[in-house]
Amino acid sequence: MSIRELIVSKIKDGTVIDHIPAGKAFEVLKVLGLTGKEGIRIAVVVNVESSKLGRKDIVKIENRFLSKEETDIVALIAPTATINIVRNFEVVEKRKVSIPKYISKLIKCPNKTCITRHEGIETTFETLDSSLRVRCIYCGIELSYSEFIDLILKELSKS
Ligand code: CTP
Ligand code: ZN
Repeated sequence: MSIRELIVSKIKDGTVIDHIPAGKAFEVLKVLGLTGKEGIRIAVVVNVESSKLGRKDIVKIENRFLSKEETDIVALIAPTATINIVRNFEVVEKRKVSIPKYISKLIKCPNKTCITRHEGIETTFETLDSSLRVRCIYCGIELSYSEFIDLILKELSKS
């Protein structure tokens, strides 16, 4: 039994987000829209030993099986994260998060003259992985990943 298993036990069913850079677990939960008020059990482990990362965080969400579409947004915050789907105590699926090509709906465009602010159009941002930036497909404004994440977290904390 490894040290981390002493801290939090295995789950029967659900999603384990592993290999999160140390200190990022709470942002990961926020960007997934999980507040703790859903009534499901969530274990958050921070700053545990990892052979690959030195220190890492882990999030265990019981009885929720998060899809690729739901979890890929995590890649902007925690590009090293792996998603483990657990059924009856076994990891039945393991995948790396990957930055989506397009990210829709999550935020308003910060450009006040952008058409999406006036025509009630849902926003779509294209990710430019070469420069770690996103670009509004309507007005072309660019944001760094961290500016984009800050806006997403701000937007989510409003609702
Ligand atoms: N896990 C869990 N409950 C289970 C099975 C696994 O909470 N019933 C957790 C483990 O504690 C680990 C993660 O899910 O944090 C992945 O499990 P596993 O694939 O067994 O671990 P490793 O082989 O160490 O994973 P990796 O190769 O991705 O580092
Ligand atoms: Zn725009």
